[in-house]
Amino acid sequence: MTNINLSDRARNTPPSPIRKLAHLAAKAKKSGIHVYHLNIGQPDIESPREFFEGLRLYQQKVVAYEQSQGNENLCIAWSKYINKTLQIHTAPEQFLITMGASEALVFLFMTCCDPGDEIIIFDPTYANYLGFASIAGVQLVPVLSDMKNNFALPARSEIEKKITNRTRAILVCSPNNPTGTVCSREELRFLFDLCEEHNLFLISDETYREFVYDDHKPLSILHLEPNSKRVIVVDSLSKRFSLCGARIGCLLTCNEEVIAATLKIAQARLAAPTIDQFAAAHMLEHIQEDYLEGVRSEFLLRRNALYDALKEIPDVVIHKPQGAFYTVVQLPVNNAEDFASFLLSQFSYKKTTTFIAPAAGFYMQNSQGIQKARFAYVLNKGDIELAIEALAVGLKQYKGQ
Ligand SMILES: Cc1ncc(COP(=O)(O)O)c(C=O)c1O
Repeated sequence: MTNINLSDRARNTPPSPIRKLAHLAAKAKKSGIHVYHLNIGQPDIESPREFFEGLRLYQQKVVAYEQSQGNENLCIAWSKYINKTLQIHTAPEQFLITMGASEALVFLFMTCCDPGDEIIIFDPTYANYLGFASIAGVQLVPVLSDMKNNFALPARSEIEKKITNRTRAILVCSPNNPTGTVCSREELRFLFDLCEEHNLFLISDETYREFVYDDHKPLSILHLEPNSKRVIVVDSLSKRFSLCGARIGCLLTCNEEVIAATLKIAQARLAAPTIDQFAAAHMLEHIQEDYLEGVRSEFLLRRNALYDALKEIPDVVIHKPQGAFYTVVQLPVNNAEDFASFLLSQFSYKKTTTFIAPAAGFYMQNSQGIQKARFAYVLNKGDIELAIEALAVGLKQYKGQ
């Protein structure tokens, strides 16, 4: 097995910037240091008991394949849930259940694009979009969103400059990973109108839809354009219900052609997991109405704790994220990856250290992220405060080296 080449696709797929330094964290832990994980969006909130109830109710003697489009009851329950919580109308047939939002995005890239076609995204971006694009042979075209402007959508002229005859879609993620920025109704309208003008799909990644703070209310592109065939929503139970490991997501559109075409791709992978879908359907039917309100308040507390602690550190530049549970922070260092490595490999404070994700990997234009890091506020308030205390001490030591 020598001299056998791997594909360009495999070689060129970037590694996850979130996991890049994981080996250093593992080493630190082995040496007895407690590592505060602010690097990864894995919430520590308990999954709803209704999900576990659903698991216990699964009584079949054979774990058979589910339908490729998804468990019928789950499509019904998800549609009802969205209709009720967002006060809009969707129908179960508009759903295609996938293994997380991740699979929905891979499928959509393949459904909307031929290899070499382009999708416009906003930089910094959810890093795994790069992996999905690589799998599908799609070219992501970044338009920079500026930290000075709270990572708001770029001007129309900046986006239009990037539209070519290969552009097939604009992909927007609001609330945003990694920046925590939330699009206003006007911004979504502007993106939709742009797609309309240039005949593009608008793919709206709403994985964090309910995680909005201050004056924001959960907003879907379907509030604005419930009947447009160019609109496709990507949704997920992973973050909203702390069900990252259940691997349940969906795509949602009133475009029957998109559903039918994507279903052919979905049939080739047979189905999403049967038991998780069964339990998720039960959960969505029975979940307490105030479950998400409790979760949202908890993340608001954490957001405030992170923001308040970081703004006390001299020369750290931070914007106040309005949604999701991330923010991108500019650090007073030349290279945030070097600093993040230092925290994990050469530093500890009271036998603890802090793991942050260098932001370069979230930028297609890597140099924009060199001095920045993404912070995920997925730990409780006390731990966030301790994590930032350790980081502040680490920063002093690092700069004094
Ligand atoms: C913006 C965004 N989209 C999609 C995903 C993928 O989520 P899932 O677990 O549903 O595949 C994530 C996960 O972190 C995300 O942050």
